[in-house]
Amino acid sequence: MREPSNERDRALARAHIIVFANEKGGTGKSTTAVHVAVALAAQGRRVAAIDLDTRQKTMARYLENRTATCRREARELVTPRFEVFDPSRDANIERRLDEMSEDAEFIVVDTPGRDDPYALKAAGRADTLVTPINDSFIDLDLIGQVDPDTYKIKRPSFYAEVVWDARKVRAKADGATVDWVVLRNRLQHLAAHNMRRVGVAVDELSKRVGFRVIPGLGERVIYRELFPKGLTLLDMGAIENAGMSHVAARQELREMVSSLELPEAAELLERERTAA
Ligand SMILES: Nc1ncnc2c1ncn2[C@@H]1O[C@H](COP(=O)(O)OP(=O)(O)O)[C@@H](O)[C@H]1O
Ligand SMILES: [Mg+2]
Repeated sequence: MREPSNERDRALARAHIIVFANEKGGTGKSTTAVHVAVALAAQGRRVAAIDLDTRQKTMARYLENRTATCRREARELVTPRFEVFDPSRDANIERRLDEMSEDAEFIVVDTPGRDDPYALKAAGRADTLVTPINDSFIDLDLIGQVDPDTYKIKRPSFYAEVVWDARKVRAKADGATVDWVVLRNRLQHLAAHNMRRVGVAVDELSKRVGFRVIPGLGERVIYRELFPKGLTLLDMGAIENAGMSHVAARQELREMVSSLELPEAAELLERERTAA
């Protein structure tokens, strides 16, 4: 492996880092992180996942369940390699990300739903920062406050500032930009009035603070049931009684992954080459 000669080269040669973060529990970080990691691995990309939620470890437990299903049911399910970050062994998350980069095209980072120093550091290394929100003004409030009468955006909130700082860190380190993507998770199939209002506010805020909005996973019971076996909607053969709604859900998942606009293998190789 080539030794990176300076800070800028190191950044260019790195794997593409995707961080799922928003400092709030229950918005779908772990669910979407697992689905994205598995979807990329299923495309034949080299993926490494790291769970910074050292208490709940949802992503790691999900992938452990997946490995157990392979063993128990003698199935082959494409599974990214994964680990739980252990600050007691190595308090330097940035170094760990560099090490993982040596043998990965993508690193998927799941973070806890709270203010966490390691999650902040990881956000400063993100190439793509994904913030899932449910269609609720409560979730939107993390990023921006709305006027109670007009529902117009009044001002950006604390998480917009967190991302602002992460972008500054990244720009200073290697001049790179962070693609901040707000992912609208658990979209209802019937467009409710409130959902349209939230949607309008998210779009308005996106221009003010600089993020892209993409559709995430629809609200579906299946997402709550896949965890014990560690399955995703790409494992149709392993899902009992898979039906038409699962096919539609799989399509949603594919659209979500493609909306992330992640680099193709050739682009990553080109980065390596120009950095060398
Ligand atoms: N698209 C979805 N449809 C239905 N339930 C979902 C969906 N996405 C997530 N969930 C459920 O919402 C809860 C929170 O999701 P999770 O991924 O653990 O969020 P976070 O990691 O942000 O805390 C879980 O019970 C999960 O199964
Ligand atoms: Mg989680």
